[in-house]
Amino acid sequence: MAASSLLKSSPVLNKSEWVKGQTLRQSSIVFVRFNRIAKSALTIKAGSYADELVKTAKTVASPGHGIMAMDESNATCGKRLASIGLENTEANRQAYRTLLVSAPGLGNYVSGAILFEETLYQSTVDGKKIVDILVEQKIVPGIKVDKGLVPLAGSNDESWCQGLDGLASRCAAYYQQGARFAKWRTVVSIPNGPSALAVKEAAWGLARYASIAQDNGLVPIVEPEILLDGEHGIDRTFEVAQNVWAEVFFYLAQNNVMFEGILLKPSMVTPGAECKERATPEQVADYTLNLLRRRIPPAVPGIMFLSGGQSELEATLNLNAMNQSPNPWHVSFSYARALQNTCLKTWGGLPENVKAAQDVLLTRAKANSLAQIGKYTGEGESAEAKEGMFVKGYTY
Ligand code: 13P
Repeated sequence: MAASSLLKSSPVLNKSEWVKGQTLRQSSIVFVRFNRIAKSALTIKAGSYADELVKTAKTVASPGHGIMAMDESNATCGKRLASIGLENTEANRQAYRTLLVSAPGLGNYVSGAILFEETLYQSTVDGKKIVDILVEQKIVPGIKVDKGLVPLAGSNDESWCQGLDGLASRCAAYYQQGARFAKWRTVVSIPNGPSALAVKEAAWGLARYASIAQDNGLVPIVEPEILLDGEHGIDRTFEVAQNVWAEVFFYLAQNNVMFEGILLKPSMVTPGAECKERATPEQVADYTLNLLRRRIPPAVPGIMFLSGGQSELEATLNLNAMNQSPNPWHVSFSYARALQNTCLKTWGGLPENVKAAQDVLLTRAKANSLAQIGKYTGEGESAEAKEGMFVKGYTY
């Protein structure tokens, strides 16, 4: 039977049925339903990439490992390079990315690297394919497939994420090039609402993308980033996050996405960046784990948090606090800024600093690897690691 007719004949929950489950707050019922969908989706995908997707997701979500996000678009990469006085040329981007991927032993802590399209096709300064270096390091190459954020007409100054047009053929080409997982980042702003429209659009876009990525052999990272911007307290973030993840899983199920073959990239539940009341790592862990328990089915293998403008130290301490007791998922990191910030500054664009910068990267990667297994102590951290990196309305 053709894949399309199989998809049509699959059981899909209607929204009122699902919302009833939510209202009853009987997470077991919700999970049974999720699992029913996940099981049927597995059958649908069987014979295509199902087994491989599950294997890839498990490999990325392996103990003591997380993701290095190095998928800054050329525009964002330009801002990072400008911060150390470098021009945004392909040669400078190549030099920086070579430094990152060739840090010796990085694969002891990092199981996946998210690349920007340019990097997937790029070679190192010595002419070796970046993808090959990653594979040698036992790091799975991934690819950012969204096309960025644009204003969402009819909303309260909110955004939506583009990139569905031509996505299937791009995913197929990325697979050929060696990518095995994908990332799509959309954002939700608390000070601007979030409006029901923006949340629905974010969730629907993520679900369509996830389904297309799986069809083409790529494990989708599902990333509805709840921006840190705002003066709101942690309870408000929690409320919004519950709403966002409920919508996301509803539409993932409707689109027959196989939950065993996805990875999530959530924001941790924290107070807004401009909120006067700060939260301890234990509070962040409590709220965030509560969110996961209420909204994320245990079939999902890996929860790979973004850092979102937290300092390097904060991001590691919060992750460590979440891993103090067992939970059903692999709770880990997929940091860009919280892995790279001090590394970039240490490099400063000078060849003689490459080794020192790689050492800094390895220190951060190791710290987060320890945090993934709940064994990070926080000793001996530099002053730089404590600096926050929040930027209002950060794009990627
Ligand atoms: P950070 O918030 O950790 O900088 O990265 C966000 C992201 O989506 C990178 O892939």
